[in-house]
Amino acid sequence: MSLKVKHSWYHLLILYFSTCVYARVNVSENGRTDPSIIEDALLDTFTLIRKYGYPCEIHKVYTEDRYILELHRVPHGRNKTKAERLPVVFLQHGLLSSSAEWVLMRPGKGLAYILADAGYDVWMGNARGNTYSRNHVSTNPTRSKFWQFSWHEIGYYDLPAMIDYALKETGVSKIQYIGFSQGTTAFWVMSSMRPEYNEKIMAMHALAPIAFMGNVRSPLIKAIAPFTNTLERVLKLLGANEFLPNGKVNELAGELLCIEEAATQILCKNLLFLICGFNNEQLNDTMLPVVLGHTPAGASTRQIVHFGQLYKSSKFLQFNHGWLTNLLTYGHGSPPEYNLTAITTPVFLHYADNDWLSTPDDVEKLMIELPAAVGKFRVPLKAFNHLDFVFANDAKKLIYDRLLNIMFRFVN
Ligand SMILES: *[C@@H]1O[C@H](CO)[C@@H](O)[C@H](O)[C@H]1NC(C)=O
Ligand SMILES: *[C@@H]1O[C@H](CO)[C@@H](O)[C@H](O)[C@H]1NC(C)=O
Ligand SMILES: *[C@@H]1O[C@H](CO)[C@@H](O)[C@H](O)[C@H]1NC(C)=O
Ligand SMILES: *[C@@H]1O[C@H](CO)[C@@H](O)[C@H](O)[C@H]1NC(C)=O
Repeated sequence: MSLKVKHSWYHLLILYFSTCVYARVNVSENGRTDPSIIEDALLDTFTLIRKYGYPCEIHKVYTEDRYILELHRVPHGRNKTKAERLPVVFLQHGLLSSSAEWVLMRPGKGLAYILADAGYDVWMGNARGNTYSRNHVSTNPTRSKFWQFSWHEIGYYDLPAMIDYALKETGVSKIQYIGFSQGTTAFWVMSSMRPEYNEKIMAMHALAPIAFMGNVRSPLIKAIAPFTNTLERVLKLLGANEFLPNGKVNELAGELLCIEEAATQILCKNLLFLICGFNNEQLNDTMLPVVLGHTPAGASTRQIVHFGQLYKSSKFLQFNHGWLTNLLTYGHGSPPEYNLTAITTPVFLHYADNDWLSTPDDVEKLMIELPAAVGKFRVPLKAFNHLDFVFANDAKKLIYDRLLNIMFRFVN
């Protein structure tokens, strides 16, 4: 395939997003959208949480390789005081997302609020490269060097730095971990490459776990995957180290994007579905501008390429740099597999039938290959898709209530 093809897939994605933005301009002139929705689309995680009456703190964390990350903490629920020591839970978001993911759906629906109200001290990570973690001691996001990472580095450097920080700040010796999608992938990296971190995690709750991707059903991912080898090189030539740069898209998105009653709302929604699986029933259209106001939140091209490699190889492998660099980096021409046997934290896998990224077959494979997997739990709704794990109307009833029950067993 020619370079032109690879390059145009990337632009097709951007085009989808910008079409949404463009066509929305006229719609918003009608002024029919609830101003509170627009406000939610524009507020940052911290301000959004405060708006709904919950306490929130911002913490800065330095990684070993000197990225500066922002952690968001909801230290307790609305009706509690800080005096008592609460069990700590750490939440890690998915690809192209941020800590906002856990609170966009508002109190009663957003998992961070539900956990805080259930008596947890909630810490939300932000991976390097996203809206809140775009700083580095000696480089910055305009430099190519800044973007030389995949989710491998997020697991190897970011998670340990953030978890150590939360442990130190709260004085507890162990926490529970909840990851969504890439938030699970990074966890497998951390706990296999740095097994000492297994000691710091009581239990890992994986929402839409991703390690094996051989059975991915998403047509868009399948279409992009064959080109992943050269995708990175092409994008580098074009100066695109960041995948779907968020700045302008997001600014506009909050006000204009996918506001109700425009034809393009269907387009925006269908783009999400095309990647993640269709389910009209569980995604609240009204909240779509809020979701898209915060997504995409920034990721490196390498993160996408690395996922593409998992799909192509059907294995859970470290990054494939090409033969020569592999030889220099790993001592082999091909990248090694992550050692899932080294993971000892008890793991609970939550999956759904209609998830096109974390498919039942791939979760089954993970269940078999991961000795620490305690159990796997199917969401009791056939149509439940990938994003429903964080955005579904009925996520609480369908999955969070069970999650809380499991978590409660680890709280003494
Ligand atoms: C907005 O409306 C004007 C006239 O009302 C029209 O000319 C223009 O094409 C519209 N723009 C979009 C993006 O639909
Ligand atoms: C918090 O307190 C208010 C008033 O006392 C009450 O209406 C509300 O239901 C409480 N919320 C929670 C999550 O307990
Ligand atoms: C959708 O979101 C709006 C705004 O938050 C809310 O008023 C409405 O009840 C939601 N609909 C459903 C079905 O949850
Ligand atoms: C994987 O980890 C386990 C447990 O630490 C160890 O016994 C095994 O040798 C490792 N396998 C490889 C291929 O490194």
